[in-house]
Amino acid sequence: MTTPIPHPLTLDGRDAANLRGDPITGDRYWSQDFARKEWDHMWTRIWHVAGRTAELEEPGDYIVHDFMHESVFCVRQEDGSIKAFYNVCGHRGQRLVWDSASVMRGFQCPYHGWLWGKDGVLKDAQDPHDFPQGNPCGKLKLRELRCDTWGGFVWYTMSEDAPSLADFLAPMPEIYKNYPMDTAVRVFWMKIDLNTNWKFATDNFSESYHTRTAHPQVPPWIDQDVDTARHEMYPGGHGRTVQPMRPSLSDRLPEGVPHPFDFILRQWDIDPDSYPDYETRAMQGWLDLKAAKRRLWQERGYLHYEHMDDEEITDSPHTVIFPNVTISFLPDNLIFFRTEPHPDDPNKCTFDLWCMAFPVAGQTEVESIMAGPRPMREAEFEHRAFDNGRGVPEIEGQIVYQDMMLAEGQQRGMHSRGYRDAYLTGQETRVRFFHEVLNDYIEGRR
Ligand code: FES
Ligand SMILES: [Fe+2]
Repeated sequence: MTTPIPHPLTLDGRDAANLRGDPITGDRYWSQDFARKEWDHMWTRIWHVAGRTAELEEPGDYIVHDFMHESVFCVRQEDGSIKAFYNVCGHRGQRLVWDSASVMRGFQCPYHGWLWGKDGVLKDAQDPHDFPQGNPCGKLKLRELRCDTWGGFVWYTMSEDAPSLADFLAPMPEIYKNYPMDTAVRVFWMKIDLNTNWKFATDNFSESYHTRTAHPQVPPWIDQDVDTARHEMYPGGHGRTVQPMRPSLSDRLPEGVPHPFDFILRQWDIDPDSYPDYETRAMQGWLDLKAAKRRLWQERGYLHYEHMDDEEITDSPHTVIFPNVTISFLPDNLIFFRTEPHPDDPNKCTFDLWCMAFPVAGQTEVESIMAGPRPMREAEFEHRAFDNGRGVPEIEGQIVYQDMMLAEGQQRGMHSRGYRDAYLTGQETRVRFFHEVLNDYIEGRR
């Protein structure tokens, strides 16, 4: 078995000595002034995910990404590249497109009919002879943004001097190079309106300390013991917690209750009853599972294991990409979580949940992890209000639903005069680190 060597950029995500100690005050979650600073100094300078590259198969396919009061679209070019443009007509500012779709000739403005090519250049305008400053066709261009791809995601930035996408994400592309991320199929795709500040999700996904309380179903499946996990963070503000996908030795299911790990072992031809006791089954079973997957992946069609290492084929690196994207890497799934602020109210956000699965030969239904079993095909987009859980019955009782149920309560607490700062465990170091990196942006240190 190969022991993973931490990437040289890794900081210990459990060591508060890596922090300055900036307080995590309540106003960060509700103040208009703070939200304005986030827009001015952070959102306009980071890289955003517009969608999946799978949405841009043909030239003319485009995706629209609305962010607060801004809107951007990314469009596949004739030469296969992708360009991003602000979603606004260069004539008199009409919004050009509302929903992701496909164009043949280009983008025709619904106001005075100007036609912009896929490359953003104006192709046609009414009465071209009537411009005292000269015919704009072939000259005017939509305002373009920097666009790039990683992991099967299309990214853009509103900043002209932000680092490249690869530098912004570092070292994630290197750490996750073994996963064929672009092949993952989005089998569940939902946007959910939540009454909480967007930072709830990054805070929440930066620690597993809440799992025993909020997600009691998880420890028998993914070991939540603090000392068996690796807590890593990186200078760019990203971080991850790597946990073995084997039963925790401290949270045991009562005797006689069917164990989820037994099911996984049997799937890979391992008899769970062949182990003398619980500890051996968890620890040796986990090693045997790695060996079985190594032996059988090809004949079983798990082609995405081809380059994955022994940790990746059985474990769960739960990863936050600064500031608002979380990707849970599982052996057979990628789960993408993202919150984005409401345009005007810092007490609200939207929560994107994209459950993706790697194709396995012969599988027509997959476990989506956060939304139950799903057909193995690209899902349709749905937008719902959380409505205290009533708006999303499909995910009731799932991990992410349990997190959302807590979100509004924490948001209330952030308004209380009784709250001054968080009092953190070592394993929550990344929570404060996230706020410190945010402060670095806001105070002009990045
Ligand atoms: S605003 Fe677009 S053509 Fe006039
Ligand atoms: Fe959670």
